Amino acid sequence: MPKDYDVKNLDLAPAGRLRIEWAEREMPVLRLIRERFAREKPLQGMRLSACLHITTETANLARTLQAGGAEVVLAASNPLSTQDDVAAALVAYDEIPVYAIKGEDNETYYRHIHAALDHRPHITMDDGADLVSTLHKERTELLGNVIGGTEETTTGVIRLRAMARNGVLRYPIIAVNDALTKHLFDNRYGTGQSTMDGVVRATNILIAGKTVVVAGYGWCSRGIAMRAKGMGANVIVTEVNPLKALEAVMDGYRVMPMRDAAPQGDLFITSTGDINVIDRQHFEVMKDGAIVCNSGHFNVEINIKALEEMTVQPPRRVRPFVDEYVLPDGRRIFLLAEGRLVNLAAAEGHPSEVMDMSFANQALCAEYMRQHADKLERTVYPVPEEIDLQVARIKLQAMGIEIDVLTPEQERYLASWEEGT
Ligand code: ADE
Repeated sequence: MPKDYDVKNLDLAPAGRLRIEWAEREMPVLRLIRERFAREKPLQGMRLSACLHITTETANLARTLQAGGAEVVLAASNPLSTQDDVAAALVAYDEIPVYAIKGEDNETYYRHIHAALDHRPHITMDDGADLVSTLHKERTELLGNVIGGTEETTTGVIRLRAMARNGVLRYPIIAVNDALTKHLFDNRYGTGQSTMDGVVRATNILIAGKTVVVAGYGWCSRGIAMRAKGMGANVIVTEVNPLKALEAVMDGYRVMPMRDAAPQGDLFITSTGDINVIDRQHFEVMKDGAIVCNSGHFNVEINIKALEEMTVQPPRRVRPFVDEYVLPDGRRIFLLAEGRLVNLAAAEGHPSEVMDMSFANQALCAEYMRQHADKLERTVYPVPEEIDLQVARIKLQAMGIEIDVLTPEQERYLASWEEGT
């Protein structure tokens, strides 16, 4: 057992171990990497502090990094996303210090991030950039040890690029989110399925026939809109970017400002990365019984403070993850998962099969960072194309899918410019 950790209850460890094993069946790419890491130990001597959602999939990543020789410490990347049985299993069976408790308050959340930093990391692995931001703001004495890091999510990459632009980022970071084998699958199919899973588990509502308003049309929101439509919803998309809005129109959705969507929606799902996408003026015109939730990284997309100010009494918890707010005219608005990531709070996050690719990228990028950090600048880097292609290749292989290869004649043709009509 590690000397220090903070999890809810170690008695949950056996259940956690079973679920980690279950997830592992669907993570063949990571398993292959783990087997190689166990032989080659590419991360030997590296202290690695990771701030990730503590799920069965993350457990398999942590065990892979550990097999590669890293000393791994984990902290939660969201106060509501931790799977307490998984946190217990990692501590009890894998000797990995974990600092994460589902439902922790903000103070505990940051205490856990500091505990992960006390480990004096050489490599940081972040999901949302809270670890990196805390390190740069409050723990600058540790920066000298760090050779590099990785970042999992769109929101984190946006924050890190802002740090690099302002000249404050002190070590190189690879934007795992931007790998094609990450965002085209995890963000789209993972968020699509797990968000609808979270909504259904929290509410048990029928999606067919509902008007579902999806805020945003980035990769995550596309997935949500696609899956809501597939379940029979009438989907409205709201956007600020004209290209994305146009794409949503041509994908068959109704597109309009939130002002016009607000009175029509039965279910609202935000996934934009921006603040107050659903605001006071929208609550003012929503239908009685409207359900509102968020699948973006931070709980800022729904203006919960405005909702609290508008309501006559404190919210009533009517089911786990469902809070009822009553407006002065009697209309009720139901907020899911306190406006935090509904897919991780009310369900189990993305399925293992897509996290396999995201976390294969994470493991290979940690190895890459170890090998190349001395040649990298203090900025945000894309995932090397070779890693992206390798992950796709192994995934296809694991799925038993063969693809064509270019003939020498085809290769020559693609490399030439003389031949035309
Ligand atoms: N982000 C979204 N789904 C996740 C999962 N299952 N595990 C870790 N991070 C996630």
